[in-house]
Amino acid sequence: MALTFDDGPVRPTTVEVLDALAARDVPATFFVIGRLAEQEPELLRRMAAEGHEIGNHTHTHPDLTTLDRAEAVAELEAAQDAVEAATGERPTVARPPWGFHDAGVDAAIEETVGTVLTWTADTEDWQSRSAAAVTDVEVSAGDVVLMHDIYPSTSGAVGALVDRLEAEGYTLVTVSDLLDG
Ligand code: NI
Repeated sequence: MALTFDDGPVRPTTVEVLDALAARDVPATFFVIGRLAEQEPELLRRMAAEGHEIGNHTHTHPDLTTLDRAEAVAELEAAQDAVEAATGERPTVARPPWGFHDAGVDAAIEETVGTVLTWTADTEDWQSRSAAAVTDVEVSAGDVVLMHDIYPSTSGAVGALVDRLEAEGYTLVTVSDLLDG
């Protein structure tokens, strides 16, 4: 199972998520917005140093299905460059904003980043802004769990979610490790 965090990095919530994961020695995947990554390169370096995967969530979070191919590629490339500037490595997986994608978006991602990834279990934390949405999310083996590291209700609940999932016997890995089986 892979825990994934979208729309950061931002302080203090991304820091709280990283602290909760570090305390439990659990990896996750952060789908970062390039524009924010440029402002918080040290948070990206911490993610990388602590074994997390960094994915591409575009540079400015547009609906990629509304862009032409060149615009979509530019959005993705700018985020690739922002992550590489901070960590020295370019992401190999991208999640389109809101999960909106079509054949053209998929082709742009495959050309620019690599793998297109959405999710299989949604906390809907953006809607409820409640800790219970995170801690009580319904999951099964192999899920990619979506949440957002920009809400205090989520960042404060990550530790309890990890504790619950580990107590239930799940092993938490990065999305690339999950895809590699
Ligand atoms: Ni998003």
